[in-house]
Amino acid sequence: MNIASFFPKNIQLALKNNPPGKWIPDLPEGCIRLHCGYPAPVLVPVEEIKAAVCSLLELEHDLPLHYTGSPKILELKEQIIKRLEERGISVSEEELLITSGACQAVDLIARILLDKEAVVAIESPTYMEALEIFQNYTKLFISIPVDKHGLQTDVLEEILAERKRNGLAQPRFLYTIPTFQNPTGTTMTAERRQHVLELADKYNFLIVEDDAYGELFFNNNLPTLKAMDTMSRVLHVGSLSKIVAPGMRIGWIAGACEIIHACAWFKKDLNHPFAQAAMAVYLANTDFDEKLITLRDTYRSKCAVLLSALEQYLPESASWYVPEGGYFAWMKIPGVDTSEMLTQALAEGVSFIPGRYFFMDQSDGTEYLRLSFSYEDEKEIADGIRRLGRVVEASL
Ligand SMILES: Cc1ncc(COP(=O)(O)O)c(C=O)c1O
Repeated sequence: MNIASFFPKNIQLALKNNPPGKWIPDLPEGCIRLHCGYPAPVLVPVEEIKAAVCSLLELEHDLPLHYTGSPKILELKEQIIKRLEERGISVSEEELLITSGACQAVDLIARILLDKEAVVAIESPTYMEALEIFQNYTKLFISIPVDKHGLQTDVLEEILAERKRNGLAQPRFLYTIPTFQNPTGTTMTAERRQHVLELADKYNFLIVEDDAYGELFFNNNLPTLKAMDTMSRVLHVGSLSKIVAPGMRIGWIAGACEIIHACAWFKKDLNHPFAQAAMAVYLANTDFDEKLITLRDTYRSKCAVLLSALEQYLPESASWYVPEGGYFAWMKIPGVDTSEMLTQALAEGVSFIPGRYFFMDQSDGTEYLRLSFSYEDEKEIADGIRRLGRVVEASL
């Protein structure tokens, strides 16, 4: 029997999408992992989460383990609303939906806003899982290049104006990661933030602001698009994955009530009530401002190690953006196909993600690669870049 024949056409097409969600082969033992966007293991608050789980169960017994969960879920919402307020984002309870990570938030937004006629504007390059998600709903994309100052809003404006002249549909939304972008590590300037909001208004589209790394600034902290949004055009997607623990799967959407209502409708109870309640207890017992200072200090220092190792070990022809926060650095090696180079890198015991996976047209990304400084410790980062330097030299 051909089981696949039971899939409807749209699902059959979606299953053919590239990339298939596996961006590097199995790692050899002892490989230095500069590919993975995980938090540093020492920064994951294992003991504190253990204590939160124990106290939750002692206090509430089976309650947090039922479908409807614990009243602490509401507390989590209040904690997130308060945190957003401190960042200049003012939302009510009806304007916030807790999701299973930012990924579910992006998927729900795509699900309620996209159909096969919908156009989506994306950054090029962008977060590869978002690319995968959007391609499940539409094939119509506008790719806008990113430079060291983030999304090139002048290019976006030209494209929108031309589409208007030609009577073409405008994007239903722009998906952007304005702060410490994945994969480039770049940050959209204040002027471009203002510009993109004006364009959304002029050409009538929504903005999905993925702020997964927004709290992890090294020095400067720009206002989010949502904080600057006076027209309710911005759907702000957040996450505790990069600042607490990704396995807890806590993210959110902050946006207009109608959007939140529609997302909640399709989310149903695909929830993690237990994780949400445990997170609420953890946050109530944690000085989060203090924790964020530790995170920023640690990642700032790791990033400095990465950058100085790049200066020391990489040949002149390689270039990279200097991140001001987040987890990633983005490198270009002219004339080298980084997908091919990955095989040698793994043999040398260092990993990265080839750039092509972050582009809709993968041929745009062959000379790029993404390095992560979040997961490994400083010694390993320096050693990893030393190994990478050897591999790049040999590939030129
Ligand atoms: C830009 C961006 N958005 C969302 C996510 C996923 O976050 P979550 O673990 O909350 O689903 C990631 C994780 O790598 C990311 O880089």
